[in-house]
Amino acid sequence: MSHWNDEDAISYDNKWGELDFHQQIPQLAGVQPSFNIVELGCGGGYLSLCLAQAAENVRVTALDPTPKMIALAKARQHKAGLSQAQLQFFEAGAEALDVSPDTQDLVIAAFSVHHWQSPAQSMVLVYTALKPGGKIWICEDLDAPTEGHTEVHAELKTLNGVKGLLQQTGFIQLSHKVHRSHEGEFLIIEALKPS
Ligand SMILES: C[S@@+](CC[C@H](N)C(=O)[O-])C[C@H]1O[C@@H](n2cnc3c(N)ncnc32)[C@H](O)[C@@H]1O
Repeated sequence: MSHWNDEDAISYDNKWGELDFHQQIPQLAGVQPSFNIVELGCGGGYLSLCLAQAAENVRVTALDPTPKMIALAKARQHKAGLSQAQLQFFEAGAEALDVSPDTQDLVIAAFSVHHWQSPAQSMVLVYTALKPGGKIWICEDLDAPTEGHTEVHAELKTLNGVKGLLQQTGFIQLSHKVHRSHEGEFLIIEALKPS
């Protein structure tokens, strides 16, 4: 379920939909050829395209519950000429993640975890979807204020909040860094499912 209306989606996408940072994420997250990747809260899909084009035979499954975001994402995919085998968008929240267990190399959530309806339940789905040794990669914007009516879990924009969520789910080898650029200060947190 989404609390974002069409206006929220268009306004967000116009301002933040295509960042230089999005282009850097595949490398920062360690995308390799033939990776199966899930992206949660993909918004207008620009990062999804960057992920799908980052290496040979990558397959991206990208979810977002906001209808307008998925419409924007599909339009971007069409324009870029990417096939359904490379990239598939689904109108669904993280709480509805439904892929076969132990199949994903990487799950990415860019600026989205604090919007998830049921973070604890969704993180269990992420854990289940990942292969043993697979990685969850999260980023959050340390500069942006919380976004009023789109129902934000403010604690999930902090290192301690995200770390707690990952640890309670069973993830190990948590690490974090702050990425600074002209676009902002972005907190990056990654963790592994045990092998
Ligand atoms: C701040 S935007 C980030 C969009 C995109 N990841 C980016 O980097 O530009 C947050 C996104 O989270 C989505 N969202 C809202 N509720 C969600 C949920 N329950 N599960 C997953 N994503 C959700 C919104 O629709 C929105 O597209």
